[in-house]
Amino acid sequence: MTSQEKREARRAAAGKPLAGKVALITGSSRGIGRETAILFAEAGAIVVLNGRDEARLADTAGLLRERGFSVSTAAADVTDAEQCRAMVERVLGEYGRLDILVNNAGISMRGSFAELDPGVIETVTRTNVVGAALPTRYAVDAITRSRGSIVFISSLAGVRGFAGVSIYSAAKMALTGLAESLHVELTASGVHVGVLFVAFTENDPDKTVMGADGKPVRISRRASTTQRQVAVQLLRMIRRRRRKVYVTAAGKYLAFMQRYFPRLTDAVILRSRGRIHQASRRQ
Ligand SMILES: NC(=O)c1ccc[n+]([C@@H]2O[C@H](COP(=O)([O-])OP(=O)(O)OC[C@H]3O[C@@H](n4cnc5c(N)ncnc54)[C@H](OP(=O)(O)O)[C@@H]3O)[C@@H](O)[C@H]2O)c1
Repeated sequence: MTSQEKREARRAAAGKPLAGKVALITGSSRGIGRETAILFAEAGAIVVLNGRDEARLADTAGLLRERGFSVSTAAADVTDAEQCRAMVERVLGEYGRLDILVNNAGISMRGSFAELDPGVIETVTRTNVVGAALPTRYAVDAITRSRGSIVFISSLAGVRGFAGVSIYSAAKMALTGLAESLHVELTASGVHVGVLFVAFTENDPDKTVMGADGKPVRISRRASTTQRQVAVQLLRMIRRRRRKVYVTAAGKYLAFMQRYFPRLTDAVILRSRGRIHQASRRQ
């Protein structure tokens, strides 16, 4: 973490900028979502954790409660409309309001497109796109009442397609379209809609993605950021009501290059083509 981010984190925690706010973070039983839940709780928010695995959710909630934070859990599969409706209803029933929705639950994949099992296409699209649209659909009225924030967690693959992550890239790019439309529909109501573009992040040791055949694959890549850094940027984005934030300078540079020098960017990426795919095959 840079010294500026450390200062920001300390100020956020000291000033409790999210005091009185209720934040629902999908996919927060582990990884980036869990770290976000911890930082938001430090910043004063009441945090609602989500994930499918109830035991893991209970463990994460226990971790936050041990530190004295206000936390509850809402187990739900974000790809299931009825479960999403019940999740939001439960938050409103318990706290009477919802200020922040972080659509973080997601799953990545590795493998060249020609080899992909159709089930991978289905699951990656459903989890990353439908799994962000459904919680938003059920939360949007409550967030409009609180003039709160809806944030989508995207990726560098949501800025530009890379080899080996085609469907993940397509799904993350779809989030930008959803966020842009929501911004237009909701901006007059005072709702903030943002997309955070995350670079390769330190993973939990047991994290897997989907291989081309649908089986879990472990990934080993040098991370360019920590989970805490992602959470700090997310908090800053919400406080400043920013629409698009790139967690790393490299992400910002990629977006700039892709926008103004697409052919050059293409040439550079073609030269490094297949690295991700090969890395996953070494597992
Ligand atoms: N890690 C990176 O390098 C990186 C880079 C760019 C973008 N991102 C994005 O950041 C987000 C978090 O990534 P991460 O690395 O922290 O992932 P992770 O460690 O694999 O955690 C994923 C979380 O999502 C939950 N989840 C998955 N499918 C779900 C579903 N259908 N319904 C409800 N919860 C579900 C998981 O809990 P259960 O399994 O119990 O449901 C878990 O809590 C994702 O959107 C990812 O695409 C990550």
